[in-house]
Amino acid sequence: MDTAPKKVFVRTYGCQMNVYDSERMRDVLGPLGYAETAVPEEADLVILNTCHIREKAAEKVYSELGKIRRMKRERAELGAEMLIAVAGCVAQAEGEEIVRRAPAVDLVFGPQTYHRLPQLLARRKEGGRAVVETEFPAEDKFERLDDNVLPRKSVAAFLTVQEGCDKFCSFCVVPYTRGSEFSRPVEQVVAEARRLATRGVKELTLLGQNVNAYHGLDGQGRSIGLAGLVAELSRIDGIERLRYTTSHPRDMTDDLIAAHAENSKLMPYLHLPVQSGSDSILKSMNRGHTTEFYIRLVEEIRAARPDIALSGDFIVGFPGETDDDFESTLNLVREVGYASAFSFKYSSRPGTPAAESNKQISEKEKSARLQDLQALIHAQQTAFNEAMVGRSVPVLLEKPGRDPGQLVGRSPYLQSVHLQADLSLIGTIVDTHISGVGTNSLSGHYPHAV
Ligand code: SAH
Ligand code: SF4
Ligand code: F3S
Repeated sequence: MDTAPKKVFVRTYGCQMNVYDSERMRDVLGPLGYAETAVPEEADLVILNTCHIREKAAEKVYSELGKIRRMKRERAELGAEMLIAVAGCVAQAEGEEIVRRAPAVDLVFGPQTYHRLPQLLARRKEGGRAVVETEFPAEDKFERLDDNVLPRKSVAAFLTVQEGCDKFCSFCVVPYTRGSEFSRPVEQVVAEARRLATRGVKELTLLGQNVNAYHGLDGQGRSIGLAGLVAELSRIDGIERLRYTTSHPRDMTDDLIAAHAENSKLMPYLHLPVQSGSDSILKSMNRGHTTEFYIRLVEEIRAARPDIALSGDFIVGFPGETDDDFESTLNLVREVGYASAFSFKYSSRPGTPAAESNKQISEKEKSARLQDLQALIHAQQTAFNEAMVGRSVPVLLEKPGRDPGQLVGRSPYLQSVHLQADLSLIGTIVDTHISGVGTNSLSGHYPHAV
């Protein structure tokens, strides 16, 4: 195997699952001699780990490939090689089409096959032509990943526990790009969490497209839900904080809600997308729940953990969405009160049922609705952040900030907090007096003298 020193540049698009996958790709490539670079021009291998959730995302990949192709040509003129790989959900969805539209691409592989990267690279070298691998292999990629990865010094880490989705919301490509639902066995997850803890990780965010549908098997072959997994992980020494994302309202079980009341390591933050506040739109989205169901759920969660920060996702301009439907969404946002939320214009994805609808909404209308919704969400986010001023909150210190002597950490509610503190405190949780609010972060003092 060729293990001469080489450089890899990885660009990640899309959700946290892709962030996690990119990390694992780096792990797999390390033993082959690849060190990471932030400069694509000097890379022997460029990987674009792509997202297919919205139309423009795929187009962005093609325009990026145009730029990288020029870098590849410049390197070739200097006698150096550059391999170009397209990974992730666009790769899964488009496959051969990518090589057809961008012939400079050497490798195309989906989210289920990145553990085979060494073999794919070897095949590319031997065969002299592009390699496309978008199967859903029967083997467990997680089991194939090398445990002897280089130590990474981070305080917070992602850990994928569940993949894929069986929900088939009528707008969404995920069930097609990531395949059907799959949960990693409990022991495998616990082992990975232990390894992360020994490397200094204090906060774990459990990932899954539908993470609260988790149902991994334990050592006795019993199916364990997310609440059970969280309980298991919270017993690991060194792991101080647990989060999970993204949850589906239909899978928010009573025991998971109860865990928010009982488990002090489970952070008071929940990303619980509802997508729309109109029952008829929810129905045509195939979400499988009503607004009343969602609002009741929020009440139960708040009863368990009154200070919980709620976040969500919204789609505006779904086919057939009337002014009244949109008004219902605004009303739901007003009723729930979010600490933050993401909102998107509906983007038609070929192959999904909603793309076939003849009731598409104009771009102009979508933009106007998005602006209104975002203004409301922004106001709620600002109010939530401002309410922190004057309070003392436990902040997990993660890394140095931009200014000298400054550290950046996170509040339990996932807010970034900037404060002056010694570097040696990284990895510890300090009670911080919050004194100011910026656009996307808080600032504070420690020790909490004012
Ligand atoms: N599994 C998660 C979300 C995964 S996709 C869930 O069910 O909540 C992340 C977000 O992208 C979705 O919540 C949705 O708001 C948005 N999204 C997905 N498909 C979209 C589309 N076709 N157009 C616009 N937004 C979309
Ligand atoms: Fe997509 Fe719906 Fe599955 Fe979320 S639950 S990944 S939006 S199909
Ligand atoms: Fe995008 Fe794939 Fe994630 S489509 S949002 S990268 S699952």
